[in-house]
Amino acid sequence: MGIRVHHLKVEGRVNPLGLGTQRPRLSWIIVSDEPSQEQTAYQVQVASTTERLGSDRPDIWDSGVVPSRESVLVPYGGPSLASNTTYHWRVRVQDRQGRFSDWSESACWSMGLLTSDEWQGQWIGRELEAGEVLPAPTYLRKEFHLDRPVRRAYVYATALGVYELRLNGDRVGDGRFAPGWTDYAKRVQYQTYEVTHLLKKGDNAFGTILGTGWYAGHVGMMGRHIYGTIPRFLMQLMLEFEDGTEQIITTDDTWTMSTGPLIYSDIIKGERYDARLEEPGWDRPGFASIAWQPVTCYPPCQGILTAQEDEPIRVMEMLHPVKMWRTERGTFIFDLGQNIAGWVRIRLRGEAGQTVMIEHAEMLDADGTLYTANLRKAVQKDIYILRGSGKDEVYEPRFTYHGFRYVEVEGADDLDEHSLVGCAAYSAMAPAGLIETSDERVNRLYHNIVWGQKGNFFSVPTDCPQRDERLGWTGDAQVFARTASYNMNVAAFFRKYMIDITDAQREDGAFPDTAPDAGWSEFKKISSAKWFAPDNAGWGDAGVIIPWTMYLMYGDRRILEDHYEAMKRWVEYLKRNSDGWIRPDYANHADWLSIGEETPKDVLATQYFAYSVSLLARIAEALGRMDDAATYRQLFEAINAAFVDRYVSEDGTITGDTQTVYVLALSFRMLPQHLAEKAVHKLLKRIEANNWHLSTGFLGVSCLLPVLSDHGHHDLACRLLLTDTFPSWLYSVKHGATTIWERWDGWTEERGFQTPSMNSFNHYSLGSVGEWMYRYLAGIEPDPASPGFRRIRIAPRPCPGLPEVRGSYHSEYGLISTHLRCDEGRRELTLQVAIPVNTTAIVSLPGEAREVSGDAAAVGLTPGERTYEIGSGTYGFVCKLG
Ligand code: BGC
Repeated sequence: MGIRVHHLKVEGRVNPLGLGTQRPRLSWIIVSDEPSQEQTAYQVQVASTTERLGSDRPDIWDSGVVPSRESVLVPYGGPSLASNTTYHWRVRVQDRQGRFSDWSESACWSMGLLTSDEWQGQWIGRELEAGEVLPAPTYLRKEFHLDRPVRRAYVYATALGVYELRLNGDRVGDGRFAPGWTDYAKRVQYQTYEVTHLLKKGDNAFGTILGTGWYAGHVGMMGRHIYGTIPRFLMQLMLEFEDGTEQIITTDDTWTMSTGPLIYSDIIKGERYDARLEEPGWDRPGFASIAWQPVTCYPPCQGILTAQEDEPIRVMEMLHPVKMWRTERGTFIFDLGQNIAGWVRIRLRGEAGQTVMIEHAEMLDADGTLYTANLRKAVQKDIYILRGSGKDEVYEPRFTYHGFRYVEVEGADDLDEHSLVGCAAYSAMAPAGLIETSDERVNRLYHNIVWGQKGNFFSVPTDCPQRDERLGWTGDAQVFARTASYNMNVAAFFRKYMIDITDAQREDGAFPDTAPDAGWSEFKKISSAKWFAPDNAGWGDAGVIIPWTMYLMYGDRRILEDHYEAMKRWVEYLKRNSDGWIRPDYANHADWLSIGEETPKDVLATQYFAYSVSLLARIAEALGRMDDAATYRQLFEAINAAFVDRYVSEDGTITGDTQTVYVLALSFRMLPQHLAEKAVHKLLKRIEANNWHLSTGFLGVSCLLPVLSDHGHHDLACRLLLTDTFPSWLYSVKHGATTIWERWDGWTEERGFQTPSMNSFNHYSLGSVGEWMYRYLAGIEPDPASPGFRRIRIAPRPCPGLPEVRGSYHSEYGLISTHLRCDEGRRELTLQVAIPVNTTAIVSLPGEAREVSGDAAAVGLTPGERTYEIGSGTYGFVCKLG
């Protein structure tokens, strides 16, 4: 077959629209059926039309043949790119033997509006009526006439609030909750849509539904109006006609507005829809909008308008109920079999004015009713008032979402299991990894970890989707970022979130607890002094840990460059706020939700200080800033020395003597060799004292199993994974969990539900063990010296009690997979490995290979480990154990 190029991506996305960068980065995947194949050169062509590209006359850029192995995130190097323009591109590559592939299929990207003066429209909206505090969604419309055939039509749109844009009766795009959540005072993302196919010659009409969203509705527990009180909308349609002329249609004072059937809608408080108020045809031309009023125009917004970096929130999966029943109260309860974030689409029939209430909950109480005690002030109820047309009516909410598995419907006549489906909505990340083992409980745990991500990656990585919180907690995000990147492609998602983090960075350099900050730092000052700290260990550090993780997983150097100064400011801030390199009590959240052990805050804060500094040293090195790298390495050593001096005894005891103090000191490499060995011993003692159970909270848990596996106690790591007595991961699995719980003791046999004010059943943080499953069970890991899986470390370790593990990961180079099997007596291990073209791997086996299929070169032999170097292709190893 030779070599082929496919799956072209720009900025990590397939044919993205509306890019905001002048130097988009191009990636492609190469396939070949020959082993050890790699790219030795590439050629990229960019043209204004596919015809020009196809006929080999690229009018924009031809890179020429560039000798290079780079095939991921290769910067576009042509002339400057123009706003509102589509670029078509293709690539071909040369293999090791000097043969060229065919040209790839063409792909494209389009540029957004690159400067603010290109926005010609006005922000429009509706002034509040007297006494109206939480505005009902506003309906906006505009008719326009086209007298010539259209060649190209792009819409650029955004809102302060959330919007749904419609054109001639159709929804434009399939994104939800646009423009997504940012700190609107600093930046507002706009979306780009191709609408050529939706327009027609003659009369056309735009319709927009504008809700409060994060801008004016409730955010977390901080109340409403965090950013503003009146939602507004901005849009610009840019038309190019067949005859070469152009026209721009924008939001302005010619639009009209009204309220409509959606009479109440709030992310946290639910939605109310009165179908009797529908005005059919409002979003089509020819509608008699006599009662509609002129819109109010508003001055430009304060934040900069910026192209959306990540994929929009979409309805990604539809779930059919696995069970339904009628209660004694005459209501219907549906069980989706899976805890999700989203809403339901329900089909109803009945009388005009009949009111149906749809209530959502994650769990059932012991008496079979919905468990809603954990919602705090969130309202997970949507209300639909029937039109009563005698026909089926289908309702699905627009601008609210819930965390739930169970749905109770009250006020409906007759429902069956086909009456509703659950719509799981999340930021549209492509699936990347998969773990499957011979133990169904572990598979379920893995499934729960993935669903924890699906339930919470919602424009920002939120803590939970059900109670009045749903905030972008930075600590949760950093502990889970690596697991998240294995599960799904989160490159663009975290690129956007890092901007949220630096937007929320304080003047003095402190990174926030939550990003967007959304008034949390002010709120915590008022609500309780206990929460007031300028930063928080393990939370603020996300500003360094996340970019580093993205660099490791995707080879994204630019994220390091973009945030380098912010990271330095953070570390300088930590330095200023430390005393002899010890961080005082800046760790309010401590090892959040640990169980039975409390890690001293100053110890934990000093550990995270050291970690941020060590990562910054590595980042500086990756960016070639060698002076900085040396400075931060020295600082790291100085912190470690102070740490040992203050907290570590000669016998290896660390102040606090909790599992977490040892785990973090070892994971962050803060101890000299002789103390490290003793600390490992102390850690084992702590686990043993806890009857071989973990006690770690959010921060300790992500490092616990990696530390054990790295320090000669892989069997114990496996034992903790496979434990199903309390507290453990499999305890929740044994009790029917379908997502990761916020707390180890969210529900226990002895006590039932715990602490209702903080008891989410969909919090991903304790699922950070997913990273260990990929790295140590499936053994798939990027080599930091050649990040982004350009060079791969394959080192699966046999796990007692888990004879078979399959793992796979779609890297930016292509699919990496491993399949490990051990025989019953654990005497022999077989391993199948496949790695993609243009990568190499080091395969480590726990013993000498008896058989090797494929062209693997043995390169190392140390006691208990044999290493092989492989190029792309498929390999098999059979290896003796013990
Ligand atoms: C959130 C957490 C968060 C924590 C910080 C909680 O309310 O749910 O996930 O990290 O606060 O203390």
